[in-house]
Amino acid sequence: MSIQWFPGHMTRARRQIQDKLKLIDVAIELLDARIPLSSRNPMIDEILQQKPRLVLLNKSDLADPEATRRWIEYFAEKGLEAVPIDAVGGNPSREIIQRSKQLLSAKIEAQLRKGMKPRTMRGLIVGIPNVGKSTLINKMAGRKIAATGDKPGVTKGQQWIKVGTEMELLDTPGILWPKFEDQTVGFRLAATGAIKEEILDTAEIALFAMRYLVAHYPVALKERFGVEKLPEDPSDTDAVVELMEEVGRKRGALISGGRVDLEKASLAILRELRAGKLGRVTMELPEGEPAVQSLEG
Ligand code: G4P
Repeated sequence: MSIQWFPGHMTRARRQIQDKLKLIDVAIELLDARIPLSSRNPMIDEILQQKPRLVLLNKSDLADPEATRRWIEYFAEKGLEAVPIDAVGGNPSREIIQRSKQLLSAKIEAQLRKGMKPRTMRGLIVGIPNVGKSTLINKMAGRKIAATGDKPGVTKGQQWIKVGTEMELLDTPGILWPKFEDQTVGFRLAATGAIKEEILDTAEIALFAMRYLVAHYPVALKERFGVEKLPEDPSDTDAVVELMEEVGRKRGALISGGRVDLEKASLAILRELRAGKLGRVTMELPEGEPAVQSLEG
């Protein structure tokens, strides 16, 4: 699914989330563990303001564990608790409840001191399209509640979903826009499959991904595609395109005359990357990290 965001959509999406914030105790910000900043709404701090917030790094099954560890540190330095989850293969409900309780502990204790029974915690999941909001809601509900591919700005009656005895979730997530005015962000979103290829050129996305893989995951790249030599300089476009052609030949992406169909080769590369066939790959590191090849040890 891809959504075309216009200023009107953004204003409406923002207003809808702000309305929902009044109803909840904790905001659950869902990010893609492979691209935590690029999958983040640029105005999220302004939108959520002081609302207690839990950051979830979803699709952590596809992300590099070492990079995820660094990202958790990055968020901790910003005063945010980030928890890696896998909304498909895992069952993160307990952890989300526990962490939310910790975030709200002062409030809960104050209620207890006054002799009040703590109220059921109410949460709202927010995030950009395709980050896994519906998958997570359905997992936490234990049944199918949220339709994947919800559109921004479409209001429907909202309901509370019980998650165990201590928490309730709004059944409709808050859908936010990514920071797509930044081209690198757009490429990262496209490389991981958060936005569909039609918006950006497939070969350009694959070139972007390939450069990154040459720099950060050379061993995985060689093993998956059975290539022996990688370009020495990932910014050498000709050399990286040659590598893509080599992969294309191995994947049978050919046009008449035995030439490589770069479009088909690019699709194969992206498909395999997104499906985790190259192993667990993180496409973005916290700022200031040394950029080169450190992730594979
Ligand atoms: P959204 O509501 O935020 O828009 O996202 P949604 O739940 O629809 O999830 C988007 C895609 O991401 C789905 O794949 C879903 O299965 C996948 N996904 C969600 N969470 C995880 C996770 O923790 N790990 C992995 N590996 N995948 C996850 P899909 O239906 O195949 O859609 P698409 O890939 O064809 O776009």
